[in-house]
Amino acid sequence: MAGRTGLPCTGAAAPAGTLRAMCGIVGYTGRPGAAAELREAGSHSALDVVMEGLRRLEYRGYDSAGVAVLTEDGVQSRKKSGKLANLAAVLEEDPLPVAATGIGHTRWATHGGPTDANAHPHLADGGRLALIHNGIIENFAEIKQELLQEGAEFLSETDTEVAAVLLGSLYRGAAEGDLRRAMQLACQRLEGAFTLLAVHADSPGMVVAARRNSPLVVGLGENENFLGSDVSGFIDFTRRAVELGQDQIVTITPETMDITDFFGEPAEGTEFEVNWDAKAAEKGGYGSFMEKEINDQPQAVGDTLLGRSDSEGRLTLDELRVDPEDLKSINKIMVLACGTSAYAGQVAKYTIEHWCRIPVEVELSHEFRYRDPIVDANTLIVAISQSGETMDTLMAVRYAKEQGAKVLAICNTHGSTIPRESDAVLYTHAGPEIAVASTKAFLAQITAAYLLGLYLAQLRGNKFQGEIKDILADLAAIPGKIQQVLDASGQVRELAEMMADTRSVLFLGRHVGFPIAMEGALKLKELAYIHAEGFAAGELKHGPIALIEEGQPVFVVVPSPRGRNSLHAKVVSNIQEIRARGARTIVIAEEGDDAVKDYAEHVFYVPEAAPLLAPLLTVVPLQIFACALATAKGYDVDQPRNLAKSVTVE
Ligand code: M6R
Repeated sequence: MAGRTGLPCTGAAAPAGTLRAMCGIVGYTGRPGAAAELREAGSHSALDVVMEGLRRLEYRGYDSAGVAVLTEDGVQSRKKSGKLANLAAVLEEDPLPVAATGIGHTRWATHGGPTDANAHPHLADGGRLALIHNGIIENFAEIKQELLQEGAEFLSETDTEVAAVLLGSLYRGAAEGDLRRAMQLACQRLEGAFTLLAVHADSPGMVVAARRNSPLVVGLGENENFLGSDVSGFIDFTRRAVELGQDQIVTITPETMDITDFFGEPAEGTEFEVNWDAKAAEKGGYGSFMEKEINDQPQAVGDTLLGRSDSEGRLTLDELRVDPEDLKSINKIMVLACGTSAYAGQVAKYTIEHWCRIPVEVELSHEFRYRDPIVDANTLIVAISQSGETMDTLMAVRYAKEQGAKVLAICNTHGSTIPRESDAVLYTHAGPEIAVASTKAFLAQITAAYLLGLYLAQLRGNKFQGEIKDILADLAAIPGKIQQVLDASGQVRELAEMMADTRSVLFLGRHVGFPIAMEGALKLKELAYIHAEGFAAGELKHGPIALIEEGQPVFVVVPSPRGRNSLHAKVVSNIQEIRARGARTIVIAEEGDDAVKDYAEHVFYVPEAAPLLAPLLTVVPLQIFACALATAKGYDVDQPRNLAKSVTVE
């Protein structure tokens, strides 16, 4: 299997006010048989595979979940609002028969509330067809009107049910009972972003799926095949995967996989081997994925550095697959990203500008393409995304490519859309990040940005080889230092527990400490639902200092006092200013910085590091604080309310 089919830049965007969904989907088909026979034959029960896949994909959405299996009596399904555990309870009370083919869905709802009725699968063709969906059908209202006029009835408020009823109607009509043909015809009609999976009682052993602007990966097994939003949907069963291109339809049976475009023309995917195993996606004895992922950080940084330089300290980023001459000729870098990844981009700005003397702009992907940005063939776009599926960033990448810019992705997920559509990719090796709040991927992104900066400096002659080697040596020492921060984190946890009732926390930082302050605030907002703001410390007197009143907790990320250009004294002055107005100051400082003790209620020390590398250490206590405080409040830190891991629609 080779090559990729064309990836048209549709630039499809949901119209203002459209409601959207991001979800996890799984499909499976294997040899038919009873459960015991299946196990003996090395095959599986469809329900077991689908539920295991949903468990691993639940981070994508957890408002409701549902499954459908193909049995001798036709399609049977169960669905329930709330987390996957609710569906598991329903299945225990009202079990489904053993089946060899099934599909499953875990939902992040906005289009129709998180009710049982709106949960997927949606049935059509008199209950003989079941469909699940990730994305948004933009023209659902128009299609629904037509179907209503034909006498169709709808049981939910979702766009998905419209797609299901359309598919059922095409199946009975123009497609003459051919599910794959019906899917092709339906996809020609549908607009927007969607991954669809369908089964029909007339086609036992078959799952038909389609994708446009929404993720879908195939897993290849022995006499069984799988579908998932990403490889975690089937990682327990196979590591052989196939990434699909845009606007493709894939049909799986236990023995075959067949790919076409939306018009039935044969197409191909790209096969790859998943390079992490299922254990990497387990909690490993920690209370939550987030705790585990915070503790994985030394390894995430170490693995991201691994194999990227030779013994002379020369960076060898062969995987970049971009002509060095192109990189030499760039005169501007624009980093595009959202959320935590955008804060990694801000750290990259300080570093790359300092090391390479190239102007670097950082922009939120969703702002970028709506303001007529100035990019051309001499602009290097650096798209940072853990998931590689963030729709805002994907759309920004497409827009930048249309303007002639080169795009380099920094990404943690192999086979995902953003690296696939970029000219070059630098993979972070953080392993699967399951908790919705990003931690280890953030550190790995910053590490990858350092590597990129050093590579550009090497290529463009901005730094001597010896200087690059020294920085790489400093970087190599960082994982051990992160471990020291983790080992000494007991006091941070204690403080977080004491502060469980706090209603507002401010974060201050300067230079590379500024994005870290904003990241500390974001972690607290998304996990503990507390009002939190990050500010540039120098900005205080321009307004934010008015927020300070007696007892207001303020975290301050203090730069190292070492070095000629240290901003240490300025930040200490800022601490004094807020303390004088009643703030309760909590300081993150470098070991040996005794001067801050006099101005802080609490000091958390991190080991010495070069100022530009310090973010890899100073953010760790802030992550631990947010995680511990949210845990103390009894919140689910892995699946915070209203959020989903991958924001796969605009
Ligand atoms: O997958 P991405 O890196 O593109 O995701 C970007 C943001 O959605 C993500 O970082 C988000 O802000 C996290 N929940 C932060 O913890």
